[in-house]
Amino acid sequence: YDCVIIDTDPGVDDMFAILSALGSKRLRVKALTTIGGNVELEQVTRNALGILAMAGRPDVPVYAGAAGPLSVPLRTASEVHGDDGLHGLALPAPLAQPGRWSAAELICRTARKCPPRSLRLACLGPLTNVALALRLDPGIVDLLGPVVVMGGGFGTYTVQGQGGALVSQGNVTQWAEFNIWADAEAAQEVVNSGLELVFIPLDTSHRTLVTEDRLVRIAGLETWGGGLAETLRAYGAWTRSRCGTAGGPLHDPNVLAYLESPELYETVQATVAVEAGAGPERGRTTLGTGSRHRVALNVDTGGFFDLVQQNLEMALV
Ligand code: BDR
Ligand code: CA
Repeated sequence: YDCVIIDTDPGVDDMFAILSALGSKRLRVKALTTIGGNVELEQVTRNALGILAMAGRPDVPVYAGAAGPLSVPLRTASEVHGDDGLHGLALPAPLAQPGRWSAAELICRTARKCPPRSLRLACLGPLTNVALALRLDPGIVDLLGPVVVMGGGFGTYTVQGQGGALVSQGNVTQWAEFNIWADAEAAQEVVNSGLELVFIPLDTSHRTLVTEDRLVRIAGLETWGGGLAETLRAYGAWTRSRCGTAGGPLHDPNVLAYLESPELYETVQATVAVEAGAGPERGRTTLGTGSRHRVALNVDTGGFFDLVQQNLEMALV
């Protein structure tokens, strides 16, 4: 088993990532930590607890993290995920309360308790909690195994939509992907901290689109299939209308799929730089020479969806 803490802002694709991790035979989810991002902290924390209830897993603790970025106000992505973050999906009532530590404290305490480099962080939202954890205990740089982050876009692959519309390097601005853009100052601190990072950027996650045939497969899942497919359809509408793609990109589950089956991904070693500040290139990520980080630039799409589907089946029995 690999022990994983999932730092998340659920979020439709976050929900699929969490369920997929819960159903995995190879990952053990130690905790969920939440971060204000797709919608406000209180709502994403409620969603995290509801998702665990859906899977009958109140044993997995939830810790609330930062309400917003280090130094700028929070700008949510409710136009993509709905006002409640899950397009109105009726989640069961929470079976537990959030734990007493903050997300950053929990990350540091767990890193100190686990055998060195055995704890994996799966980062599915803005990197604020990770930056705060590194400020609290810089020593965790040497204690964490490679940290896998959904973030960034490098422009090596863009979705060609209907009518030739092109998704740019970013999904918030021409240059920036949401998680990095939302707290670019935190992302910059984290990439420069010495931590070993693996990036799953848009270049990869735009290859995992929920097409109609994949929706049908998800709709066939026991009990929750209908609701999950409906939520995914609403989530996909934003990218479909903006870019004419065949469906919504299942960004975050790639982080868990990478942790579970890294052989599904083609990666390059590089040093990633993040543009911070208020300029037009805020949140832009670039590949530099150097080898501190790893960046996934391609994925076996069929293998990814088979793994996700299999894990969902296990999580929702
Ligand atoms: C990322 O932004 C969020 O809206 C998604 O949940 C994902 O983590 C994609 O840019
Ligand atoms: Ca997310």
